[in-house]
Amino acid sequence: MDLLEWKVIRVIPEARDTISYVLEAISGAPVTYEAGQFLTFLLDYHGQEIRRSYSLGSTPGIDEQPFITVRKKENGAISRYILEHWHVGTLVSSLPPSGRFTLSTDPGHRRQVFFLAAGSGIVPVFALLKQLLRDESHSQVVLLYQNHDENNIIYHGAIQQLEMLFPARFTRIDLLSHPILPDLPHQRLNNGLFELLINRNLHPGPHPTLYYTCGPASFMRMVQFTLRVMGVEEEYIRKENFTVETVPPPAFTIDMAPRRVQVRRGEQHHEFTVAYPTTILQAALNQHIKLPYSCKGGRCSACTARCLSGTVKMNMNEVLTEKDLQNGLILTCVGYAETDLILEL
Ligand code: FES
Repeated sequence: MDLLEWKVIRVIPEARDTISYVLEAISGAPVTYEAGQFLTFLLDYHGQEIRRSYSLGSTPGIDEQPFITVRKKENGAISRYILEHWHVGTLVSSLPPSGRFTLSTDPGHRRQVFFLAAGSGIVPVFALLKQLLRDESHSQVVLLYQNHDENNIIYHGAIQQLEMLFPARFTRIDLLSHPILPDLPHQRLNNGLFELLINRNLHPGPHPTLYYTCGPASFMRMVQFTLRVMGVEEEYIRKENFTVETVPPPAFTIDMAPRRVQVRRGEQHHEFTVAYPTTILQAALNQHIKLPYSCKGGRCSACTARCLSGTVKMNMNEVLTEKDLQNGLILTCVGYAETDLILEL
């Protein structure tokens, strides 16, 4: 597993309990990534290796250096640790950028894209927003952004600048559930308000309208449910989620015979055995083979592999699309080998 070594070169306070960390690869080589992707950091937390994924708020070609933005979570020991211990000069390691919350842009497209974010869910959305406004001069963009109060709004000034730069193509709607200023309305997004705002701002172009959402699980569930009720096809809704509640045991059983798994990654080649009910990822880790992962719950896509031969059954998938599955992509963290396998990372 190739790790990237980074140095924190700038620290930018963004909002209450929220800091951006601008990173520089120690190797000096440019790191390739797409807007909307994330980095999974390997952190030494009291002698234990902990992995945490943080979205990149930077957009390649617009921001000179990659940056992530970290918000202190309630009872979030790791986010608190980062906010307290990362400074200019701190050295950190991560897996290469990954994630499928990305957007393929085309200057010829005329479409509408809704970005639906809550709290720190704005981070990957901000990267995509900049990419889309730069790349598609005929497309319309709507940002609907839910926060607790004015002091919670991340990238407030930078988003204002985008509004000024693209007044005819960019609409921003801020919702505050507990505003500090007395004359601001208290607005918490629910199904009814959400549907009203979408319909009020919907001006579809000739290309399909897309909906990108990132925020707490309950927020994204509401967004997804309401859009589906409104008749939006699943393939036009993309969501990003790193939070794993609990992974239920598989609702199926498969033959418990040991299976041989070959994993290819460039020049590297690994081989190990796995038998149900152990997942492919867990079997590899048990045999000291370091495959990439983060959430271990079928939500983040850090463990994605392409199945070149054999069949894999997954008990959860919150991130791969129908097209990804048709292209042979699988998640090793929730994948069980039904046969011998050849996987490519
Ligand atoms: S590690 Fe997150 S989906 Fe597998």
